[in-house]
Formats: sequence, structure tokens, C-alpha cells
Amino acid sequence: MSAFALDRHPLAGFDLRPLVPAEAADTARALVALDPWRTLGFSAEALQRYLGRDDPGLSRFMADCGDWPAGVLAVRRPWLRGAYIELLAVFPDQQGRGMGKTMLDWACGQAKAAGETNLWACVSDFNTPARAFYARQGFTEVAPLPDLVSPGRAEILLRKRVE
Ligand SMILES: CC(C)(COP(=O)(O)OP(=O)(O)OC[C@H]1O[C@@H](n2cnc3c(N)ncnc32)[C@H](O)[C@@H]1OP(=O)(O)O)[C@@H](O)C(=O)NCCC(=O)NCCS
Repeated sequence: MSAFALDRHPLAGFDLRPLVPAEAADTARALVALDPWRTLGFSAEALQRYLGRDDPGLSRFMADCGDWPAGVLAVRRPWLRGAYIELLAVFPDQQGRGMGKTMLDWACGQAKAAGETNLWACVSDFNTPARAFYARQGFTEVAPLPDLVSPGRAEILLRKRVE
């Protein structure tokens, strides 16, 4: 099976399964209510386009706990000798239960199995909880990218070596 295949992947306590375009609008509305997207000023329409458009290099998944979606993961590959976590979110009522870590561990395993040597991500400079979360998962902050998404704010490029 190819890395980040758009299939159902059973993980610990939940499944990752492909996000379907019909879910893009509701998912986008849920995400823009959350930081960092709220503070960055994302519109639900823009995020809906991102989640629903044709983009063969991007694997988009819903974290599925059974009856309800619990989070979102979008991974771009190939990206800079590895794979790039383009979007990671666990919805508030499911946070702090290990789902974010489980999704990152899975992404790491997928990248490694595909022979990649890097897993990349970005985090907004003001997103202190997510910076702590990524640090805990072994990501190093390699470079600030000023004004990348929003004027006066930086996105911080994060790297985890997976070899
Ligand atoms: C950041 C986020 C993905 C973390 O997912 P989560 O499921 O809540 O985190 P987990 O329960 O898997 O936590 C895993 C580890 O990170 C640590 N961690 C999680 N949130 C943390 C925080 N705010 N501060 C410090 N450590 C934190 C946990 O203590 C845990 O440590 P452990 O491995 O020692 O037990 C989630 O909170 C989220 O979606 N936030 C909003 C969107 C966001 O910021 N996305 C990421 C950047 S775009």
C-alpha cells in the first residue's frame, strides 16, 4: 500500500478515513472557529475550497470515532525529501486524549515506510499549545517564516527526522 493511501486506517481508538468533498463545508466551519485559523482570519469558504478541491499531492483524512468526526489530518507528499503535515486538528471535545500524538506517530510511520527522511509541519508563532505539542513529539523549530499567512505573524517551520 502506498504511503498516506486514501483508505481507512484503524489507529488506537479511532480510524483515519478519507475526507469526502461533501464534508468539506461542515469541517471548514468547525475549523475556522478554532485557533490558529480563527486568529489567522481564515474564511470558511477558503478552507472549504482547500478541503474539497482536486489536489492529488494532498491526502486528507477525517479522524473518525464512530458516530462523529473528531479531527482532521492533511499530508502533502512528496515535500522537501519527506512529507508535510499541512493541517492537523483535533476538535476541542476530543483534545488531550492522545489523538494528535497518534496521528503524528502514524504519519511518521507512513513516511518512514516510504523511505522518506523528514516529516515537516508549520505552526503559528502565537500557537503556544501546538508549539509545545510538536516539541513533545520530537519536532524541532527550524525557521520562522514571517508574514507567510498573516501580516505581522510568523509561521514556524518544524522538522522531524524520521530515518
Ligand atoms: C495541537 C493538537 C493537534 C494536539 O492534539 P491532542 O490530541 O489534543 O494532543 P494529545 O492528547 O495527543 O497530546 C500528546 C502529547 O502532547 C502534549 N500536549 C498536548 N497539548 C499540549 C499543550 N497544550 N501543552 C503542552 N503539551 C501538550 C500532551 O501532554 C501529550 O504528552 P504525552 O505524550 O507526554 O502524554 C490539538 O490540541 C489541536 O487540534 N489544537 C487546535 C489546532 C492546532 O493548533 N493544530 C496544530 C497546529 S496547526
